[in-house]
Amino acid sequence: MQADLERILFDETTILRRLDEIAAQISNDYRDRELTVIAVLNGSLVFMSDLMRRIPLPLRLDCLSVVSYHGQAETTGEVIFKQVALPDVVDRHILILDDILDSGHTLAAIREKLETAKPRSIRVCVLLQKRKERARPVDADYVGFEIEDEFVVGYGLDFMERYRNLPCIGVLRKELITQSN
Ligand code: IMP
Ligand code: MG
Repeated sequence: MQADLERILFDETTILRRLDEIAAQISNDYRDRELTVIAVLNGSLVFMSDLMRRIPLPLRLDCLSVVSYHGQAETTGEVIFKQVALPDVVDRHILILDDILDSGHTLAAIREKLETAKPRSIRVCVLLQKRKERARPVDADYVGFEIEDEFVVGYGLDFMERYRNLPCIGVLRKELITQSN
């Protein structure tokens, strides 16, 4: 799998060191409030699992599943929610966790939808944020790493459902993306 990478951006040690910092920040910000983490599946699974174990606060976990990519390396802008009911977040302080902020379509749609469920507050945490102009503006309150506008995989992020189990994050070789289109 690693041979399919053009280059590695962040190895496991670097990622976990950064998670220590974000977790400390989140733990400090939510020290007096009960936190509800909403993880966006499947991409944030690995990130969520490493991050939440670094937050020594009482917290609740809910997951949301959306389809926004349709397996290809380009977004269509359409976001489909896979579950019938939203998690019960009335009056809760929620922190949405996602793997990557790219066009902004996914997180904008999720934020909008969760707002209708009347939480007390909403913040957004992403592992990666692409440096680019977004189709929909979304402000992430916590960002692991800023990256250039390149297609990356690993540490939960996939290309056509592969590479999620790579322990590092890397740029996928371009010819692998064009080949499968
Ligand atoms: P957005 O709606 O364009 O912001 O995209 C968000 C979703 O697209 C993320 O949650 C990822 O699942 C997927 N995505 C965007 N960029 C990448 C990438 O570089 N690698 C893997 N998945 C990506
Ligand atoms: Mg995703």
